[in-house]
Amino acid sequence: MSVHSTEVRLAARPHGWPTAETFEFTRVEVADPAPGQLLVRNLLMSVDPYMRGRMDDRKSYVAPFTVGEALEGGALGEVVESTVDGFKPGDTVLHGLGWREYALVDARSAAKIDPSRAPLGAYLGVLGMTGLTAYAGLLRTAEFKPGDVVFVSSAAGAVGQVVGQLARHRGAAKVIGSAGSAAKVAFLTDELGFDDAFDYHDGPIREQLKRAAPDGIDVYFDNVGGDHLEAAISALNVHGRITICGMISVYNATEPTPAPRNLAMLIGKRLTMRGMLVRDHGDLRAAFIEEMAPLAADGRIRHHETVYEGLDQAPEAFLAMLRGDGLGKVLVKIA
Ligand SMILES: NC(=O)c1ccc[n+]([C@@H]2O[C@H](COP(=O)([O-])OP(=O)(O)OC[C@H]3O[C@@H](n4cnc5c(N)ncnc54)[C@H](OP(=O)(O)O)[C@@H]3O)[C@@H](O)[C@H]2O)c1
Repeated sequence: MSVHSTEVRLAARPHGWPTAETFEFTRVEVADPAPGQLLVRNLLMSVDPYMRGRMDDRKSYVAPFTVGEALEGGALGEVVESTVDGFKPGDTVLHGLGWREYALVDARSAAKIDPSRAPLGAYLGVLGMTGLTAYAGLLRTAEFKPGDVVFVSSAAGAVGQVVGQLARHRGAAKVIGSAGSAAKVAFLTDELGFDDAFDYHDGPIREQLKRAAPDGIDVYFDNVGGDHLEAAISALNVHGRITICGMISVYNATEPTPAPRNLAMLIGKRLTMRGMLVRDHGDLRAAFIEEMAPLAADGRIRHHETVYEGLDQAPEAFLAMLRGDGLGKVLVKIA
């Protein structure tokens, strides 16, 4: 069966913020699946901050995208043709070849999902990569315990919305979030049950955090870096823990960014600051799904999604996610 597909390629490496010129759309003919492969028609794809890192040509934990080739990323699709036992046409699969209408997917890197158990978007968010990041980063990396006061940045984003609600569900004494607009702050306190939240544009983060947590915080889940990290170090109590999950405030920086100026506080307060990558925590997936699926299903953990319609909107969805225009998990509906 001959299939034609539109794909989004990296046209040029961005210097600083990506623009529309970073992307190009190309029409290609997709070959028949080779032994071991599935032909998948993509339905939904994720846009994620780490994709910005892959647009740069530098050594990292994941290979850079290649200029002139299709971008990649988490996606859900329907199997159209299968050469592999265990996969048949009509199956829904989660895989890593988004940014295109049709994908030739190695069956070993595809996971079958049951679309009747949860809305599709959940598999890319609250029950997917970003949900597991929140779960592992809070429970394992930060060694969260009931009674902790937890602060999370980019709290109205895909990872952040789960971190805050999971901490609340697991018995945090107080959950505080920061986000980039008054609407997001209201969303955190009014809809997600955060105890307190603030807009980081409204004044120095250090002062706003001090107001929200006059007795200090025990855990900081960092999605942002920069001023947020420095403020959190100042606010942390003795034996406080920091999960370094992301530093989105520096991803588009063109110059080296300053380190927190108060790192020496780690000594006196005996703080732990630990980086984490979700891919190291696959062993937690079963426990994560067992706990999260019922919470997400009955709304005890809410998961907001911002969905852009059409592959042609994928670059704009990605840029909007970086800018903070989206609420919750940002997705693109391809078909
Ligand atoms: N370590 C891992 O394995 C792993 C896995 C997944 C994600 N991550 C990291 O986790 C973080 C969150 O990822 P996500 O997928 O949940 O993205 P997200 O939070 O849904 O989207 C990114 C958000 O970053 C915020 N932002 C952008 N520039 C900012 C700035 N200068 N200062 C403060 N906030 C800013 C924006 O929200 P506002 O409107 O609030 O500004 C935007 O909505 C990212 O840093 C990402 O790289 C790490």
